[in-house]
Amino acid sequence: MNICVVGTGYVGLVTAACLAHLGHRVVGVDSEPLKVEMLCRGEPTIYEPGLTPLLQDGLRSGRLSFGQDLAAAMAEADVIFLCVGTPPRHDGSTDLSQMEEAARQIGERLRRYKVVVEKSTVPVYTADRMKRTLAMYSGGAVDFDIASNPEFLREGAAVDDFLNPDRIVVGVETTRARDLLLQIYEPFRCPLLVTDVKTAELVKHASNAFLAMKISFINMIADLCEATGTDVQQVADGMGYDRRIGRAFLNAGVGYGGSCFPKDLSAFIHIAEEHGADFSLLREVRRINETRVDRLVRKLHQALWVLKGKRLGVLGLSFKPNTDDIREAPSLTVIPRLRQEGAVVRLYDPHAAVQMASVIPPEPGKVEYARSPYEAAEDAHALVILTEWEEFRALDLEKVRGLLQTPIIVDGRNLFDPAAMAEAGFEYFSIGRPDALRPRQPQAARPRGAP
Ligand code: UDX
Repeated sequence: MNICVVGTGYVGLVTAACLAHLGHRVVGVDSEPLKVEMLCRGEPTIYEPGLTPLLQDGLRSGRLSFGQDLAAAMAEADVIFLCVGTPPRHDGSTDLSQMEEAARQIGERLRRYKVVVEKSTVPVYTADRMKRTLAMYSGGAVDFDIASNPEFLREGAAVDDFLNPDRIVVGVETTRARDLLLQIYEPFRCPLLVTDVKTAELVKHASNAFLAMKISFINMIADLCEATGTDVQQVADGMGYDRRIGRAFLNAGVGYGGSCFPKDLSAFIHIAEEHGADFSLLREVRRINETRVDRLVRKLHQALWVLKGKRLGVLGLSFKPNTDDIREAPSLTVIPRLRQEGAVVRLYDPHAAVQMASVIPPEPGKVEYARSPYEAAEDAHALVILTEWEEFRALDLEKVRGLLQTPIIVDGRNLFDPAAMAEAGFEYFSIGRPDALRPRQPQAARPRGAP
């Protein structure tokens, strides 16, 4: 099928490359010339595992191309996927100006029937507005359909999520639109749910809100585990074996970030307010998440007492592993807090350091960027872990201990076993688990016969 993808950000680029991989002819359109140039050369504009070969194969086979000219890109297309940005506004609602502009531009260039599909995450009723805009700018003479087909792609696993989804949700108003979309997804063997458009729009927000709720729930339990000397990971395991609950998204830590959960939760709360529904549960989910950085900083105080003048190695800057994305990452809040308290930070991330340096630039003697986790640990009073990169799990801990000025690790992602860390000579503070302090020196043997 001929497909046009409008917007080549995370969602658009992965969607375009994967649809071409499935055998469709896809044209990706973007208004940024530099982005288009890079993509035409086969250079991905984002770091996403598995994307480069799909992009390059697609270009080589001629099934995938990119351009700036919307009219040319949509001329042959039967289906247009809208993957433009839907950023948050100050009040938490969604800025839909890029969606509106896309609808206007598509409307003006509409010459024959097409299905226009929302893939970006949008509030319920967006399709209604899109439909009116498309009709207005196309002059009402050309037939079209609007549909919702939300993406559930996780950054860092987006290609795999696209090609092996848990489910596909298609919200349509006509059988013509349904048949075209089902044709695209014909090779998939997962459950395929066909709904009306508003329901599909709601599924996306409800899914992300539920996942965020699981994370805040386990973080709340983590606080009680700390107070009672129990282990949140064991509690999560015990809960997770219940198939009604599931173990996924029950990892306690320094909180969720990224371009989706914080934004989608606020948007969903805003939508509920507009429609008079009580979403105080989700307000609490958001509040709990916002307290996580405070708790981590408190742990650093517990470990180091005063932070002023201390050297801290910070491992992990992206909001989660396998991505270079730092949007809403806990590191963006943690690092300024540490600097405010007068700590000197040396930052390391395998992929996100360049992005972070554009927000928190290096300042000699205050903010430094390390080329390896070991360089970050050198002469530091403590290591702080903010992202669970595999590289950190595989660290040579003996080497790390030798490099640190004082062998302290504050782990915001529970990478290591506390008992093993104590055994290895660390003072180890993690989330929702007992602190592990170094084993005491063995007591001198008592004289035989002593009481
Ligand atoms: C999310 C949704 O998973 C995806 O379906 C949607 O389309 C976009 O939003 P993403 O933001 O890429 O994807 O990352 P995800 O893997 O869901 O993690 C989000 C955040 O939650 C990360 O900061 C992660 O560290 C945190 N998290 C996740 C936890 O703190 N604990 C967990 O158990 C799981």
